[in-house]
Amino acid sequence: MYNQLIPNDFMTISEEEKRKVILTCAQPTGKLTLGNYLGAVRNWSTMLENHECYFGIVDLHAITTPTKPATLRQNVFDCVAQYVACGLDPEKCHQFVQSHVVGHTELAWILTCLTPIGELQRMTQFKDKVAKLGFKAAEQEGEEIKFTHDGARAQASINAGLLCYPVLMAADILLYNADLVPVGEDQRQHMELCRDLAQRFNHQFSETFVVPDAYVGETGSRIMSLADPTRKMSKSDENERATLYILDEPGQIGKKIASAVTDSEPVIRASPEKPGVSNLLAIHSALSGQTIDQLEEHFAGKGYGILKEELTEVITESLRPVREKYQELIQDKTYLRSVLAQGAEAAQKRAYKVLSKVYRKIGLPDRSKG
Ligand code: TYM
Repeated sequence: MYNQLIPNDFMTISEEEKRKVILTCAQPTGKLTLGNYLGAVRNWSTMLENHECYFGIVDLHAITTPTKPATLRQNVFDCVAQYVACGLDPEKCHQFVQSHVVGHTELAWILTCLTPIGELQRMTQFKDKVAKLGFKAAEQEGEEIKFTHDGARAQASINAGLLCYPVLMAADILLYNADLVPVGEDQRQHMELCRDLAQRFNHQFSETFVVPDAYVGETGSRIMSLADPTRKMSKSDENERATLYILDEPGQIGKKIASAVTDSEPVIRASPEKPGVSNLLAIHSALSGQTIDQLEEHFAGKGYGILKEELTEVITESLRPVREKYQELIQDKTYLRSVLAQGAEAAQKRAYKVLSKVYRKIGLPDRSKG
């Protein structure tokens, strides 16, 4: 199977590959949040002209939490339609589904064998996910973290995939020898692990992987929950007023912003003691392009009601073209399939080159020679 899929020209290095390679991914968990948009996808669309870009839809990551098969299939279509609607022109980049490309899980396994368990147990996102599933992180003992649990259901939910999640993410990146990985602030720790793994492999088996840099944008890289602005805005939040989605209708946007948490000091300024207001200003700034200083000046002497009204307008108008384009695209599954097929072909071509090299380096059969 692996052998048959290797393209004949897999060893030639094209001119294109000498350009910087950008790779990044998102999970297909339905609608993208405003955090995904401002911290990630919107930045990606500015990179298409001068780079070779690969944008993945990581369905294998999505199954680390229980997902119905039909929902997963639909979410992949929703995700690619949203990517294109947000400006990722398929003529200028490769959009692919992780499970369509051979190599992600193979490389993930190899990297798993280079990763101490303790490094994975220390990952903040792992601890957060475990805590959300009903566990409370208990004291750390040496390499091992112990968890006290609140119920059998939660215990059954902590699968090894959740622990190994960042290794699969590292494989997604290293499989393409990506130079740059644009992500939101929350992925920094995972990126550090990825860099460590690249260096560890290079040290042990000789120079193989590019050690990738994370690119975290200056604005929008950490959009917070509207209901609890000390936590990041997340798709998995149970409070439906906490998260804005890029496909929300204007009425929903208005309601969510109106109920966003602020504070009792009626002054519109950004500061660590005012996380709710700071978050609203950060969203405004990321969408309107005005600096926080300009916004503070603009809103001087005005109340939170005005801030929320104006912000609703800014969000609604910024997202209107995205929502309209998405509604058109999601009707055309043939087109979306063709985008993903083209993306998978290009991704596979690049992935095989790296995977083949890795296999040779570690003493596995060089499958490229048959
Ligand atoms: P995911 O699907 O949670 O999020 C996709 C992208 O959106 C960013 N993001 C945010 N940015 C600002 N504010 C927020 N509140 C916010 N929430 C999410 C994320 O930082 C991310 O850039 N592990 C990754 C998916 C992944 C990946 C990869 C990313 C798998 N393989 C390889 C890069 C490279 C994740 O769960 O993203």
